[in-house]
Amino acid sequence: MNSFNLQNIVRKHILNLAPYSSARDEYTGKEGIFLDANENPIGSATPENWNRYPDPYQWQIKEKLAPLKGCRPTQIFLGNGSDEPIDLIIRLTCEPQHDNVIILPPTYGMYEVSASVNNVEIQKINLTSDYQINTEKVLSAINPKTKLIFICSPNNPTGNIIDRHAILKIINNFQQGIVVIDEAYNDFADEPSFIPELDNFPNVMVLQTFSKAWGLASLRLGMAFANEELIKLLNKIKYPYNINGLTQKSLLENIDNVNFVKESVKTLNQNRDSLKTALKELAIVEHIYPSDANFLLVRFSNAKQIFDYLIEQKTIVRDRSKVVLCDNSLRISIGTEQENNHLLSLLTNYSEKL
Ligand SMILES: Cc1ncc(COP(=O)(O)O)c(C=O)c1O
Repeated sequence: MNSFNLQNIVRKHILNLAPYSSARDEYTGKEGIFLDANENPIGSATPENWNRYPDPYQWQIKEKLAPLKGCRPTQIFLGNGSDEPIDLIIRLTCEPQHDNVIILPPTYGMYEVSASVNNVEIQKINLTSDYQINTEKVLSAINPKTKLIFICSPNNPTGNIIDRHAILKIINNFQQGIVVIDEAYNDFADEPSFIPELDNFPNVMVLQTFSKAWGLASLRLGMAFANEELIKLLNKIKYPYNINGLTQKSLLENIDNVNFVKESVKTLNQNRDSLKTALKELAIVEHIYPSDANFLLVRFSNAKQIFDYLIEQKTIVRDRSKVVLCDNSLRISIGTEQENNHLLSLLTNYSEKL
């Protein structure tokens, strides 16, 4: 039985709040003399004109994105990176110093940071030793104040897909809040997204991003997908023009370039497999975890020393050795073939000197 009711999950004052009404909310036409937003009618201090506020709801992008993702434009929220909807969903649902969220370490750090910034309690239920959800423990940690459960699949920093049945079990048994499924690395995996299933799961919000497979990290554009009612509420509490005009224009001009995404995923996945094969040969490498993402989590004999040595050589990887269940592990983003070969030659040199 589906007992989900968003009205009971959202903080009461937000339900009652009158959102800021921007000039572009009151008149959405393109033609006219615009004397409503205190813009500069002469133009811009740059060669290209940026003097008009952008579409606050980015409808042109959403119209093009919806068929790519198998959903309706109204089921999409765009944010300043997917970090924005992570923060917004916490602010929308969690009463500070009262409610709590569940996260599943080792996982992406921003769930904890955003919850802490909002003074929201965090319950940590570690993944199992093979980085899967301890479903029973998660379900028994849910209490009446639990509003959100964050699941990252493929998971950062471990790289693996989280078992779909386990995710479904959490979704089906958590109707008092929202399950946030972070699919930032889904483009690299063979796993279907949860987006096309959103109509069956009103208690799910899916996150994706343009920062990874699309190669647009600097544009800062993240996506959240959910039922229309939840998307409306996110729109209600976001900054009015959260996606700047330059980002909107740049994406709109290139959103048809899905071929780039396909090709770069293919190349990066091949590079990942070659890097993995080569790393396995090194004596300093103890274990390489299975990855469905554009990085590898590698356990070394002495991660910290290797990390420092690589930094000295101006080759930067991510030290995850202090993270729970990631002892002695470094997270290595997949580079170009040349970059990976460079890394391999540094590690080979290091290994041979021991
Ligand atoms: C799992 C996960 N989610 C979200 C993000 C944030 O991405 P964005 O650049 O869209 O803020 C990252 C970035 O590394 C990530 O690893």
